[in-house]
Amino acid sequence: MRVLSVASECVPLVKTGGLADVVGALPAALAPLGIEMRVLIPAYPGLTERLEGAREIWGERDLFGGPGRVLSGKAAGLDLLLLDAPHLFDRPGGPYSGPQGDYIDNAERFAALSWAGAQLAMGAGTDGWVPHLMHAHDWQAGLAPAYLHYGGGGEGGAAHSVMTIHNVAFQGFAPAERLRALRLPQSQFTSDALEYYGGISALKAGLVTADAITTVSPTYAEELMRPEFGMGLQGVLAARAGDLHGILNGVDDRIWSPETDPDIAPYSAADLNGKAENRARLIAEFGLGHVPGPLAIVVSRLTEQKGIDLLARALPGFLDQGGGLVLLGSGDPRLEAEMIALAGRFPDRMGVRIGYDEALSHRLFGGGDAVLVPSRFEPCGLTQMYGLRYGTVPLVAATGGLNDAVIGTTPASLAAKASTGISFHPVDQIALTGALRQLSRLHADQRGWTALVKRAMKAPVGWGEPAARYAALYRSLMS
Ligand code: ADP
Ligand code: GLC
Repeated sequence: MRVLSVASECVPLVKTGGLADVVGALPAALAPLGIEMRVLIPAYPGLTERLEGAREIWGERDLFGGPGRVLSGKAAGLDLLLLDAPHLFDRPGGPYSGPQGDYIDNAERFAALSWAGAQLAMGAGTDGWVPHLMHAHDWQAGLAPAYLHYGGGGEGGAAHSVMTIHNVAFQGFAPAERLRALRLPQSQFTSDALEYYGGISALKAGLVTADAITTVSPTYAEELMRPEFGMGLQGVLAARAGDLHGILNGVDDRIWSPETDPDIAPYSAADLNGKAENRARLIAEFGLGHVPGPLAIVVSRLTEQKGIDLLARALPGFLDQGGGLVLLGSGDPRLEAEMIALAGRFPDRMGVRIGYDEALSHRLFGGGDAVLVPSRFEPCGLTQMYGLRYGTVPLVAATGGLNDAVIGTTPASLAAKASTGISFHPVDQIALTGALRQLSRLHADQRGWTALVKRAMKAPVGWGEPAARYAALYRSLMS
């Protein structure tokens, strides 16, 4: 079966968050199940040079204001399709924003990506590779199922479509006046189709036109249908409840395995010596003093979604009691400043690195005792799963994928030897403070702690099961 994946990010070529990890991992996870997946992303600067055996398979002279073409080739082990449209994607800066903030033509930029995806899904590629199904990720690919539905829906040869929500907080809103410019049919500008609060939401467009919808954890699938989490789309999702599937992400063990990770001293559940060495190295790298309690880590966007503001308030008590923290992240300048100030108050116990650094993130997972993920909402979350894999015990808010990936420590789960981390609810400062106390207590009992670390490392977090669920979903749409 041939599947075209359409997204704005893909590891290891371009990444701002977990979306990239997932899009980059799916093809290899699905290959053993007989699914041949190609990934279409924009040709951001420097990417076409990385494409081996590039050949043009599709083009349009005026793709939203300039020429665009799709190049097919191989890169980083992926069957990659690049949308080469310099007027939209050849600019310095990130995938969505430059020095002046968000690009003002993001609606057109990702409409172009979606348009190219839909054209290929309708069989327009000149290389004879016609997908059976198109898998669109997040709002940036949200118009792809819509173009497919309005342009090719119902006619023979057009692919089926799956729309995945990685985060409903980002919806790709555009004013209604752009409808025609975005090549959307005026007749569909109704509340049960394209219209969204008087404008256009690329994500909603995908949700109402895709054959099936998935999101990245079973708990988030439930949460999304409630007003507290649905962010305006709860009704749209509830109306499609029967087509909505929650499939938890996995961990790409080619990149995330403490046994083979080149950035750390290797270790395994059977031999944890390397982990102790990594801890000592991390403490030295950040110039901390003796940390008698648990050494916690945070690898995160610094935003309110991630509960970083709550953490800043709960940390002083934890650090006073002997805990340590190493934080790697960037985001909201106010939160960055707050964390830097806190590290200034506890120089022996807390280190902060503002920025984005893959290799350093591996060193944090290798050397930390616990990873803190106090998110207010979390569709899936990957760092708690990296934490499990690395025996860096996850301390998480009981929401979304954090709830599905981690078994919190309670008297019952301890007795059953089932717990793999610490979980708290509700997501507020009091509960987080309690969870940090529980972390310090559990860490103080060395035997119990080692048993918890080993259980965490054995928790099933690979791509095997999720890939099987995607494959089953794809196949169910074909029949
Ligand atoms: P989200 O996509 O919402 O940011 P996820 O937990 O799904 O959250 O994915 C975040 C990904 O980005 C993980 O792979 C994490 O390790 C990585 N990451 C986040 N911040 C940084 C950073 N400052 N440096 C390196 N990697 C980071
Ligand atoms: C989004 C979500 C995150 C999820 C990731 C990959 O960025 O915020 O929770 O893990 O997508 O699905």
